[in-house]
Amino acid sequence: SVLEMEVEQIKKGSYDHFMQKEIHEQPHSLTTTMRGRLKDGGVLLGGLKEHLKTIRRSRRVVFIGCGTSYNAALAARTFVEELTGIPVTMEVASDLLDRQGPIYREDTAVFVSQSGETADTLLALDYALENGALCVGITNTVGSTLSRRTHCGIHINAGCEIGVASTKAYTSQIVVMAMLALAIGSDQISTQPRREAIISGLSSLPGHASEVLKLDSEMKELASSLIDSESLLVFGRGYNYATALEGALKVKEVALMHSEGMFAGEMKHGPLALVDENLPIIVIATRDACFSKQQSVIQQLLSRKGRLIIMCSKGDASAVSPNGSCRVIEVPQVADCLQPVINIIPLQLLAYHLTVLRGFDVDQPRNLAKSVTTQ
Ligand code: AGP
Repeated sequence: SVLEMEVEQIKKGSYDHFMQKEIHEQPHSLTTTMRGRLKDGGVLLGGLKEHLKTIRRSRRVVFIGCGTSYNAALAARTFVEELTGIPVTMEVASDLLDRQGPIYREDTAVFVSQSGETADTLLALDYALENGALCVGITNTVGSTLSRRTHCGIHINAGCEIGVASTKAYTSQIVVMAMLALAIGSDQISTQPRREAIISGLSSLPGHASEVLKLDSEMKELASSLIDSESLLVFGRGYNYATALEGALKVKEVALMHSEGMFAGEMKHGPLALVDENLPIIVIATRDACFSKQQSVIQQLLSRKGRLIIMCSKGDASAVSPNGSCRVIEVPQVADCLQPVINIIPLQLLAYHLTVLRGFDVDQPRNLAKSVTTQ
């Protein structure tokens, strides 16, 4: 109806689409996710307090989710292992059920879902409950089935997300899992300096998110150069392997362009055969312990005449593209484990502009639903 259309326009404010609004909202949504939770140099997660001891004693943390929520957990995996010392395994919800994979009483199963209503995730939850695991929910929807059926949990507090493509929920999910890791690890003295650095990195994230959003027009221009491409590869590793998967998921789901996120370390084991002067390839090479490995990946791709778009830390353009031959996206540098929160934002903008330029429906891509409530 006309009224519904007008209400929708009011909700979008000055933006053309919900996805665009939600991308630009991230400095704010990240703030609301952390509000009241970072206190006196520590982390306060009310919903978990009673269960932290049990979680610390668990033999393993299993992250379970679908799509973007799975990718957010994957981005968190490394720092959860680092700060807690507990091994973390990853499960795509449907695959856990297909395999009837092992879940034990000594496991902490962490379910990640924006909507809290995804059928595959809820069925995996039933399965984990039956197997006696402690079940923790991370969801953006208060009162959702997931938040009601888990033993405890953390609300994402990113605010309502309407666009089918998840954007602000992704970055806030990573932040929630960072706070979860900090809370679980808070009894360890040896990692205290690292925890303090991450906490100060968290507080500076909203400001860095505002800064990286200034790349909007640059990403629009990049999108216009990719508009006719058939495919787009994204290479990441370490903390930013998840960024590669999530960037590619955004491009395929809204811009309807084939895109694959891949391990840069797997390049030589197959994908290298695809490289020529036409196929656009995004390489994520921001500063962290894997930087020099990414530099050599770039060299190898360039020697095959690869068409590269390199994401690097501010000031690193000449370190990643010595003769200036590659397109470079410079992003602000943050604590290494929080870098995925910043790095995904230019890729969200790219997917958004690519969709608009290709003339597709941004907020309601064909064949997709915001929450997938059927198996
Ligand atoms: C994200 O852009 C997708 N629309 C999709 O992968 C989504 O993340 C997935 O269906 C899981 O949804 P949930 O977070 O609500 O469980």
